[in-house]
Amino acid sequence: MKKIGILVSGRGSNMMAIVDACERGDLSASVELVISNNKDSLALVSAQEKNIKTAHIGSNSYPDPEALDKAMNDALNEHNIDLVLLAGFMKKIGPAVLSSYRGRIINIHPSLLPKFGGKGMFGINVHRAVLDAGEKESGATIHLVDGEYDEGAILAQQTVSIVPDESSESLAAKVLEVEHVLFAETIQKIIDGSIILPLD
Ligand code: GRF
Repeated sequence: MKKIGILVSGRGSNMMAIVDACERGDLSASVELVISNNKDSLALVSAQEKNIKTAHIGSNSYPDPEALDKAMNDALNEHNIDLVLLAGFMKKIGPAVLSSYRGRIINIHPSLLPKFGGKGMFGINVHRAVLDAGEKESGATIHLVDGEYDEGAILAQQTVSIVPDESSESLAAKVLEVEHVLFAETIQKIIDGSIILPLD
């Protein structure tokens, strides 16, 4: 049974998709810890309702980035986390966490990377940029985290088609639906060895 730690900043629907997949037995893992940099994150409430340990580790309580990185690293280590999932986490990962969990930190992004990734490409901005570029399809990407925004080896992608008159909101909803399934499926493939992490 792999132990998962999830980093979140917002509502946490992808976090819940992972929690639910563990509960259903579709994922041979358990979510041991949820960390948010944002104390008002809805995800913290949802995790607590599932009796999952939560921690708020953000720059309000840790103005020094090094102390924040250490606090996060310590929390993950204390819970013997095997895999760190970023599910709508809006901050960069610090060097301590990166070196302890190198090759075991996985992010989900709502576009077909390398397109529409990088700084500023989050939330509805991504879908607006996709539509402005006249793309015929978009989708979701699961990738390893290497310290830069939205870079690192791509582990899985799934496309959705863009229909005439698509709005950024309708595209966001379509991609999110795909994300929820793809995230849990990909993590299970990593756990059962059908996807081999490049640094393993
Ligand atoms: C998702 O679209 C995810 O791809 C991106 O941020 C969003 C988070 O949504 N990184 P939620 O908090 O999981 O609902």
